[in-house]
Amino acid sequence: MNKIHTLSVLLLLVLYTACQNGPSTGNTAAAAPSLDSIRAEGRVIAKASFEALSQKLAQALETGGVPHALQFCHANADPLTDSLSAKYGVRIRRIAKQYRNPNNAPDAQERALFDGFAAMKAGGRDLKTVDTALVLAPGRILFAKPILLQPQCVACHGKVGETVTAENYREIQKQYPGDRAVGFSPGDLRGMWAIYFE
Ligand code: HEC
Repeated sequence: MNKIHTLSVLLLLVLYTACQNGPSTGNTAAAAPSLDSIRAEGRVIAKASFEALSQKLAQALETGGVPHALQFCHANADPLTDSLSAKYGVRIRRIAKQYRNPNNAPDAQERALFDGFAAMKAGGRDLKTVDTALVLAPGRILFAKPILLQPQCVACHGKVGETVTAENYREIQKQYPGDRAVGFSPGDLRGMWAIYFE
């Protein structure tokens, strides 16, 4: 009888502790998957953004070649990422250390992540499926994913005098006097998506 009593007290205690710990255990358990789910969402957003930009770029190239596509990018790259930001309720940035538009220069945090990707690549890692998410502050998460140069990018980001014609490069420099975004080959780490969930 005494044994049973002790057992039920223990059981009650366990239940009580379980209930006390319930919410906080629940939170800790939810925190990890939520970072995972942010990464999953980040991947979807990065892919959608890349596809939207690539599609418009291909259309512009078809309509009027590189000079026309340059105008298009100049006028539309930011509005396009802004509208995608609004659609997904995040802030999307497309940064590069060797940037064309100075607005796309990385801040210290973005640069550190970019350097991390660059080091992985230098170590022989294939960056195609690499990404990361960083908690900057409670409720503020930065998702980052490398942007790799594709063959269709070299007309504007390849080597000047080879894939980028001298004539097109003059056009680029007219609009972006401090351009640093040439000299790349397909597969190179060109930039990085920085998607802020806040
Ligand atoms: C028609 C020329 C053209 C082509 C082709 C092109 N880009 Fe760009 N790219 C630009 C211009 C112009 C900008 C600057 C846009 C702006 O003013 O924000 C830019 C900006 C970028 C940026 C943002 C960082 C920066 O340097 O300002 C990245 C990253 C980028 N391009 C990657 C690519 C990739 C990857 C491809 C191929 C899928 C590509 N680009 C194809 C012209 C081009």
